Amino acid sequence: KKDQYIIAIETSCDETAVAIVKNGTEVISNVVASQIESHKRFGGVVPEIASRHHVEQMTVVLEEAFEQAGLTIKDMDAITVTEGPGLVGALLVGVNTAKTLAFANNKPIIGVHHIAGHIYANRLEKEFNFPLLALVVSGGHTELILMKEHGSFEIIGETRDDAAGEAYDKVARTLQLPYPGGPMIDKLAAEGKETIDFPRAWLEDDSYDFSFSGLKSAVINKLHNAEQRNEELKKEDIAASFQASVVEVLSEKTYRAAMEHNVKQVIVAGGVAANRGLRQALEDKFKETSMELLIPPLHLCTDNAAMIAAAGSIAFEQGHRAGLDLNANPSLSL
Ligand code: KG4
Ligand code: ZN
Repeated sequence: KKDQYIIAIETSCDETAVAIVKNGTEVISNVVASQIESHKRFGGVVPEIASRHHVEQMTVVLEEAFEQAGLTIKDMDAITVTEGPGLVGALLVGVNTAKTLAFANNKPIIGVHHIAGHIYANRLEKEFNFPLLALVVSGGHTELILMKEHGSFEIIGETRDDAAGEAYDKVARTLQLPYPGGPMIDKLAAEGKETIDFPRAWLEDDSYDFSFSGLKSAVINKLHNAEQRNEELKKEDIAASFQASVVEVLSEKTYRAAMEHNVKQVIVAGGVAANRGLRQALEDKFKETSMELLIPPLHLCTDNAAMIAAAGSIAFEQGHRAGLDLNANPSLSL
């Protein structure tokens, strides 16, 4: 059988990324240009600045991906691109680049959902075994997704307010830590103790939904009260206590859902999958079960294009094709 080469472009937020993947799972090149330094002084991603950086970086990243692979556009079987969800101006840069390449070289084009990409990052490491449960935890998403076959996604739980990564970033800001706050809190938490009993939002008994805004308010109130009473609170202990609450709810709900649906694999995806506390808690919980736990290496947890190629490869095999009217869709559903 002939080898399959897929190129993917990802520009949904603040990373300009291009990757080439062979036969769905073999990463040939994976280039990511991060804009974090440009957004840091604003404490978060500024959409207009993100779009401008994507425009500047796109051809550089594209050429680098081909050069690393030692391949050209002629070798590609399809061009895949994140069509949503994300920042509309940022997405448009990737979508228009993909359409230009497809039109100029007469190649098929396929739109990929960003979250499908995060999930398929795991398939770059290990073949999927269905049914599987995916915990998607990123800056914009917190979802439990049941997959019974390739390309089918059933959302069985989701956040009712903030995403897990968003909660990390907001709490980090109140602790005056630099953006992005998730990795900083993770680091501080490892040095602190759980001295504060922050709330756990379990919601209804049978619900797999999440809520993090109450926890965020509890942290802010705690800091405010301590300040008024001139009480010394260690940032490390706040981070450890906050992280304990997030990790307990995420890991327990994932465990319950995995048991109820009797899945073969449990997959963790998205930027917060890099969190050491979460990784440890899930490893402990699933150690005693027959279920296989997959967590991607750190560079595949955060935004990249190899994951988009991995999801795009399956879509290509399933016969999905977009037209040249493909458009960025900031609120695309799975
Ligand atoms: O998937 P991602 O790179 O971008 C989105 O699609 O949102 O996720 C970024 C999010 C940010 O909120 C960041 O603070 C969080 O992932 N994050 C972490 C860690 N590393 C990244 N949160 C907790 N612990 C970490 N180690
Ligand atoms: Zn992402």
